[in-house]
Amino acid sequence: MVTVALDKLLPRGSGPEARLTEAMRYAALGPGKRLRPFFTMEAGRLFDLDEGELLRAACALECIHAYSLVHDDLPAMDDDDMRRGRPTVHIEYDEMTAILAGDALQTVAFEIMADESTHADPAVRCELVRRLAVNAGAEGMAGGQMIDLLGVRDDLGGVARMQRLKTGALFANAFEIPLIMADASDAQRQALLGFAHDIGLAYQIVDDVLDAEGSAEEMGKAAGGKDAALGKTNFVTLLGVDAARQRVAHLADQARAHLDLFGHDGDILKASVDLVLKRRS
Ligand code: IPE
Ligand code: IPE
Ligand code: MG
Ligand code: MG
Ligand code: MG
Repeated sequence: MVTVALDKLLPRGSGPEARLTEAMRYAALGPGKRLRPFFTMEAGRLFDLDEGELLRAACALECIHAYSLVHDDLPAMDDDDMRRGRPTVHIEYDEMTAILAGDALQTVAFEIMADESTHADPAVRCELVRRLAVNAGAEGMAGGQMIDLLGVRDDLGGVARMQRLKTGALFANAFEIPLIMADASDAQRQALLGFAHDIGLAYQIVDDVLDAEGSAEEMGKAAGGKDAALGKTNFVTLLGVDAARQRVAHLADQARAHLDLFGHDGDILKASVDLVLKRRS
């Protein structure tokens, strides 16, 4: 559903700029897990929101995520050759195309979010755009990437803060979309943002465990201890794999508890916790 919608929303250029739109489509339409859109759609069901509007906003967020991965893989950043089981964008195309594809995926995200068909109320659209900008920017994903690349984190608090920005902010955005559209109550906001925080943190710890233990073949991207070899501090290098796994289990329980507020309506999201955290890729 998300991939079909993304396919319709992404531009198809002609002339020399077609190379750029092809690279954007290669990055965004590849076999990713579409986890953030899944959360937006499922959380949206708690409020009976319009599916078409939610889906557009979810696609905008996925474009930001796709851009973040294209740039994350560049030689100047993680210098990775494989993503989602295929060559990264700068390998399949080249570096300048990858930079531009990331740039244009970022701007198309805001184009989609700001469009009238995403929500009838301009004040709601404005808030959706504003929160996406904050969560993707210096106080969100990009800020977290800076901390990661500088390597300025030597304790658990520092790693947790980096994670909250690098991965947590876009996870939170997945839930902020329905919360904004539904004009949700403070209690509902706290519950869903608490869930987002715990599942986002747990997700990144699992990513770090898989980086240490997983095979690149299963993961579809670099693994086999790449983070540790680069001297990166993360949850696994600081805690060890066993304690990291315990932390994931604790966070999973905590995440599910946040959803008690929604009664049985929260069952699908609760059930998703294990699926999301037991991933092998
Ligand atoms: C990868 O995100 C980067 C992290 C935050 C760990 P995903 O694991 O959601 O990547 P795709 O979209 O499924 O490829
Ligand atoms: C990057 O984290 C998360 C982003 C904000 C792009 P990683 O560098 O650990 O992600 P992977 O392992 O390459 O997917
Ligand atoms: Mg990285
Ligand atoms: Mg990376
Ligand atoms: Mg990783």
